[in-house]
Amino acid sequence: EKGNYRHFMEKEIHEQPDVLSRTLAHYLDFGTGTARPPGDGKIDFAALPRLSITACGTANYAGLVGKYWFEQLARLPVDIDVASEFRYREAPLTPGGLALFISQSGETADTLASLRYCREGGQTIASIVNVPTSTIARESDLAIPTLAGPEIGVASTKAFTCQLAVLASLAVAAGRARGHLDVAAEQALVAALGEVPRLVSDALALEGTIEAIARRLHRVSDVLYLGRGIAYPIALEGALKLKELSYIHAEGYAAGELKHGPIALIDEDVPVVVIAPFDRLFEKTASNMQEVAARGGRIVLITDQKGLEHAGITPAEVILMPEMPEAIMPIVYTVPIQLLAYYMAVANGTDVDQPRNLAKSVTVE
Ligand code: M6R
Repeated sequence: EKGNYRHFMEKEIHEQPDVLSRTLAHYLDFGTGTARPPGDGKIDFAALPRLSITACGTANYAGLVGKYWFEQLARLPVDIDVASEFRYREAPLTPGGLALFISQSGETADTLASLRYCREGGQTIASIVNVPTSTIARESDLAIPTLAGPEIGVASTKAFTCQLAVLASLAVAAGRARGHLDVAAEQALVAALGEVPRLVSDALALEGTIEAIARRLHRVSDVLYLGRGIAYPIALEGALKLKELSYIHAEGYAAGELKHGPIALIDEDVPVVVIAPFDRLFEKTASNMQEVAARGGRIVLITDQKGLEHAGITPAEVILMPEMPEAIMPIVYTVPIQLLAYYMAVANGTDVDQPRNLAKSVTVE
């Protein structure tokens, strides 16, 4: 049931504060400020030599955010690949390694084939899934559920942010187990994650602003998304959401890659969405943004008050986000890129819940 919403996607975007609360409460103990590692010790994070993450589409971008978290918070080396590549590339597997699969449906053919490859290779198999009865969940040593509830819209929204919530919680647990986070650092991260549902609600309150921006932009034929560090996977996700929903061509790039090619595309007809909270990498992204502005690019800046003050240019459009700790930024900054894609699609009159050529569950290669 869509209730008062026009589309399942809109409903699912708005469910995020609730489903994120539920998912975070499952993996974090807010009373003690600790992460609860799932699976009763099935994963020995302290002894883990390496983690490999495999998934498709949006779930793969969640995995890429996870890589940044596991590496920064737990000093755990992470390989990540899309399942359709991983399954055929005959990757050597590290003995004692953990193979983590991420899938909303739990039925994606390439992800399942990759899982079976890792099982034969003697890896411990864990999966982050939204459908607990799915094949991927059943074939895993440890199924780690996202509690997003059924996701009907073909474009993944709440399942993605819940995947991020689970990955962040796991990375905190891993960081603690590996001795990289002390008690105070763990408590600070758990407290920051506890703020996510409220911050996501604050981001949802920007809906009117974002709809107005979408109405001004929707006739374009190409859009670039830029992000650096942990904002980079969100740029990829933003571009994927826009193309699948609105059929507008979009690409996400690491901001530092701009000068290695994509800057040639910049002119006044190509909006550039820059995802740049005021964090330790902000100045770097700001200088990439200034290069775009100098070439007449139309910048849509998603940042906070400090970022806006330090941008060094006047963007064509601003989506002003609340300030927040860097670690939780990917979850909260996903909301504006979802809303932007949604309203661009609505403005273009495309079938939001059932875009052409796509299926919710991709059970063929
Ligand atoms: O069910 P899965 O999470 O395994 O699906 C993976 C992709 O097919 C999926 O995320 C796809 O990219 C979405 N349509 C993105 O919105």
